[in-house]
Amino acid sequence: MYPDELTSPYLDRFSAAAAQRYEALRIERDDPDRPQKIAALNSEAFGAPVVLFCYLDRTMGPGQWGDAGMYLQTVMLLLRAEGLHSCPQVMWTMYRKTVSRTVGADDELVLFCGISVGFEKEGVPRLRTGRADMTETVTFIGL
Ligand SMILES: Cc1cc2nc3c(=O)[nH]c(=O)nc-3n(C[C@H](O)[C@H](O)[C@H](O)COP(=O)(O)O)c2cc1C
Repeated sequence: MYPDELTSPYLDRFSAAAAQRYEALRIERDDPDRPQKIAALNSEAFGAPVVLFCYLDRTMGPGQWGDAGMYLQTVMLLLRAEGLHSCPQVMWTMYRKTVSRTVGADDELVLFCGISVGFEKEGVPRLRTGRADMTETVTFIGL
């Protein structure tokens, strides 16, 4: 799902986002069953009734993986326009063989991610994970 050697600042951001997300879902950092609980929540699509699976042809390169990310962002925005919410989950790639068998995807296709889709549950506190400061991620030239 991620490079073997995920370095700073990416690793720090990833860890911070995971900590925020799973603490909000009441899975404490020192819970010995944390990995299993996280896997279970993900596998249940966080309670969403629908999961979309996005595949790319195995021959595609980095540019086309970027295209797929842009495409999925549009899908997620269109879902919002219909009043739905969604959550991309790369975790499904850990179970890619089972997913491919279930959806009938052949070997020429690589699973990118799943996207859980559903209506927001009323009364659940909103969680928005932190974002890196724009000065860390964007360089403005000529200002
Ligand atoms: C491609 C992609 C894959 C992701 N995979 C997972 C995942 O497997 N499990 C998970 O809990 N969050 C995953 N996330 C993070 C969440 O889907 C979500 O983007 C993040 O929690 C921010 O949510 P927010 O905008 O509501 O704060 C992934 C995000 C992206 C863009």
